[in-house]
Amino acid sequence: MTNNNPTWLEINLSAITSNSAALIRETGTPLMAIVKGDAYGHGALQVARAAISGGAQWLGVARFGEARILRQNGIQAPILVLGLALGEEVDEAIARNVTLTLPSRESLEHFSARAKAVGAKLRVHLKVDTGMGRQGVFPDDLLPFAREVQDSGQIIVDGLYSHLAAAEETHAANEIQLERFKKALASLQENGLRPRWVHLANSAAAFYLPQTRFDLVRVGNVVLGLRIRIDQPLPESYLPSLSWKAKLASCRRLPAGWGVGYGLTYIPSGEEWIGVVPVGYGDGLRRMPGNQVIIGGQKCPVVGRLCLDQLMVRLPQAYPMGEEVVIIGQQGDESIRVHDLAAVYQTSQVDVTTLINQRVPHIYV
Ligand SMILES: Cc1ncc(COP(=O)(O)O)c(C=O)c1O
Repeated sequence: MTNNNPTWLEINLSAITSNSAALIRETGTPLMAIVKGDAYGHGALQVARAAISGGAQWLGVARFGEARILRQNGIQAPILVLGLALGEEVDEAIARNVTLTLPSRESLEHFSARAKAVGAKLRVHLKVDTGMGRQGVFPDDLLPFAREVQDSGQIIVDGLYSHLAAAEETHAANEIQLERFKKALASLQENGLRPRWVHLANSAAAFYLPQTRFDLVRVGNVVLGLRIRIDQPLPESYLPSLSWKAKLASCRRLPAGWGVGYGLTYIPSGEEWIGVVPVGYGDGLRRMPGNQVIIGGQKCPVVGRLCLDQLMVRLPQAYPMGEEVVIIGQQGDESIRVHDLAAVYQTSQVDVTTLINQRVPHIYV
């Protein structure tokens, strides 16, 4: 089928499969592929399938609704909901065999009341806050909490986990969180309450802090081929999976002094080839200086302000309408990667990819 989209994402599923397999091989640990936020904008269902075919045993999502979509589309792998679940979602989690995070006494009361009403048991992973200040019981409260959960009779504790706040950095907090986690785990172990799945590591920890791997690594970034730190390349066994392309809408030679874009913030000093690309901040690029695209194998600067649906680019020569434009990806010897955009925008790679608008069609290759 011909591709008549003015702009589109290309997602390389075999890269996701091979990244997953490489992670499992190199960490020697089972993988939970984190596909929350529509797999950071890459498409949760397709990424989930690709990660599973690379060997991922588990999937992680933020909300129950994300788990529901995976189940409705035939995904049978165990799924952990990392965030809040309420009301009928708890009943449905039981019915769909989705595992919920149990982070507090309040949730325990809620979950056990729902499970009792449904007359079936709910599967959970306990969450302990080892020092991120976000979610979970304090390590010293874990043992009494686990006993209360057990006493409720309605809940199967299948896992225990925590999340690291600064795993991307060489930070004293990593060791402190790990020690707290180990101590909390030991308190369960000594009382015969060690759950099957114990996990702590995200991408950065899975790579740099092997002692955090335990039974499962929870990885989003590296599965997608995104870097752990934007200034550090991944080993060559990991491949980027996301490209963002467009077709040149027009290219005209503007006379000197002919201003470009809202606010006329760019005025060519001589005659210039200015191309129009049908991508704007309404697609998820940022309305900030420093954007570039690749055309004809060359990086070209975006000039003037980004519009909602279009941008203007200074070209070294004329190109025909329909010429391929790369916003993220490779063309010839040049590449612009998600980490390059994250550096320009001074944000995370996930912030860049997750905010790519759904109106940009996803093509899976
Ligand atoms: C609880 C939890 N575990 C794992 C991850 C995956 O992190 P990463 O994409 O850095 O591997 C996230 C993502 O934010 C998370 O919230």
